[in-house]
Amino acid sequence: MKAARLTSAFLALAALLVPAATLSAQQSQASSDSLNQPAHQNRDWWKNAVIYEIYPRSFQDSNGDGIGDLNGITSRLDYLQKLGIDAIWLTPIYPSPQVDFGYDISDYDAIDPQYGTLADFDHLVEEAHKRHIGIIMDLVLNHTSDQHPWFKESESSRDNSKADWYMWHDPKMVDGQREPPNNWESVFGGSAWQWDPARQQYYYHRFYIQQPDLNWNNPAVRKAMYDVERFWIQHGVAGFRLDAITSLFEDPQDRDEDYVLGPDGKPLINAYGDKVVKTNLTDNLPEVNDVLRELRQVANQTEGRKVILIGETYLRSVDDLRKMYGTNNDELDLPMDMEVGFPPNGVDVLNVDRFRQRINEAETEIDGNMPLFVFDNHDNKRWDRWVTNDHKEDVGRVLATILFASRDTAMMYYGDEIGMVTTPPRRKQDVKDPIGIRGWPKEKGRDGERTPMQWDAGVDAGFSAAAKTWLPIPPSYKTVNVAAEESEQRSMLDWYEKMIALKKADPALHDGDEIMLNPTDQHVLSWLRKSRDGEAVIVACNFTAEPQTVSFNLTAQGVSTFHVKTLLKTPGAPDPLSIDMIQLGPYGVYIGKVE
Ligand code: GLC
Repeated sequence: MKAARLTSAFLALAALLVPAATLSAQQSQASSDSLNQPAHQNRDWWKNAVIYEIYPRSFQDSNGDGIGDLNGITSRLDYLQKLGIDAIWLTPIYPSPQVDFGYDISDYDAIDPQYGTLADFDHLVEEAHKRHIGIIMDLVLNHTSDQHPWFKESESSRDNSKADWYMWHDPKMVDGQREPPNNWESVFGGSAWQWDPARQQYYYHRFYIQQPDLNWNNPAVRKAMYDVERFWIQHGVAGFRLDAITSLFEDPQDRDEDYVLGPDGKPLINAYGDKVVKTNLTDNLPEVNDVLRELRQVANQTEGRKVILIGETYLRSVDDLRKMYGTNNDELDLPMDMEVGFPPNGVDVLNVDRFRQRINEAETEIDGNMPLFVFDNHDNKRWDRWVTNDHKEDVGRVLATILFASRDTAMMYYGDEIGMVTTPPRRKQDVKDPIGIRGWPKEKGRDGERTPMQWDAGVDAGFSAAAKTWLPIPPSYKTVNVAAEESEQRSMLDWYEKMIALKKADPALHDGDEIMLNPTDQHVLSWLRKSRDGEAVIVACNFTAEPQTVSFNLTAQGVSTFHVKTLLKTPGAPDPLSIDMIQLGPYGVYIGKVE
């Protein structure tokens, strides 16, 4: 198995500009030491790894119903292995009424029939392992579906065995009228409290009404969820992505949140017409960290393999992010760093300073832990949200370079690698995501980033054989597809394959330190990666549509050499000879080894 992995890393590298013969002994050493173990048998398999998020409804349909499924994913594993990924995160595939497309779970120990069976899941895990790919399950702990038997029982009376499993609350009476207990809001619009006629009480739901929040103060709830964790570990998963993990607890005194004020001093109004409230009392309470430690203890009860915990952690500061690793590294392995990829207030402007600062924070202020950079997912517009000019693909390459050439574990989203773009619905009647219906036209929902994978230029882009797919195939599929890009030398797919291969096989790019360079440069983001053995690699990304020239002096970083050998670059500028003068085309990228 070792040899097979080594071979694939080398084949990928051979495809680079560098002839295979020039690979150094160091490079092959890095590949064999830490990288060539089967997924999650090497306890460090997840460090500096590449994790690929799949939205199962949209990846590959194997039975012609227009919805992706597990056997479809299994049939595409060879493609994913060639791409070079280490693990797949599957968004929820449990039985669900699908109000929130799987994030409303009605049974945690089974597979939704539209995605397959438990046997199909086991088969996927087995086939993935053969290809050194781990499977990561999405664990939704904050809430269940309102159709889950736990909730059905809980709402049936005030004295059943699950009466205290959810967040029930008496109404506030104002002038004889029933009102919600406070002003807390659902992320998906409206009050977070829903009146339940059966119980004659309100229940709290941070997300949709059909997603009641569990009561994490109840030890029986904790035990039930830790049993779920064990169940999937026994089915061979390599880890969990913990959904909405910061929202498990709320203020025990149920105090009102403050409003977020606009420049005129009045509360901001969101796309749903609600006054925007802060989330100081409903998000990231310290009790979350206690639960993380308990989840970690369960995950640690695995012999000879490492089960990782990833957190969906939209946080307010790098300090909050640091805390998620736990003071003794006993909480999350990989809390998602959303600061680099998702600027607050949705201002997606390619700003050199902002990237430099955020990446530097991740490098220096999280106690040396492994950052997990996430640039795209199923909840946000795809990467083209950054593009405001004619250099779309070039900007895509810049982003991919930052993601894969940083010292991080890189989280990518299916379709990124071929440059799939956001394709939102044009008409309200076509919207599938309920928030898009509620918030139309300001909030069009998340359908645009969940469209089917574009495999080829044939029927349904090779995704399905159905007359109608669950979301339409974007018109771009004719040219933006795997088959076309596999045979095109300068495709986005080609760039992704080369970047991932470099991240795996080059010792400096794999796990070398990262030092930001030229800190006042407003046009080019540059950094040095330096391995323990002193190998140095320079990365430079032009953030402008004008050609740029950069020069470096690395003596302060302990590098006295200045010759540079190209590892990878975008076309449009000559191969430099030294770090004194590196030219970059518009949104150009240069990666070179200093020697
Ligand atoms: C997370 C998921 C999102 C879902 C929400 C509620 O944010 O990523 O898709 O709607 O949790 O479960």
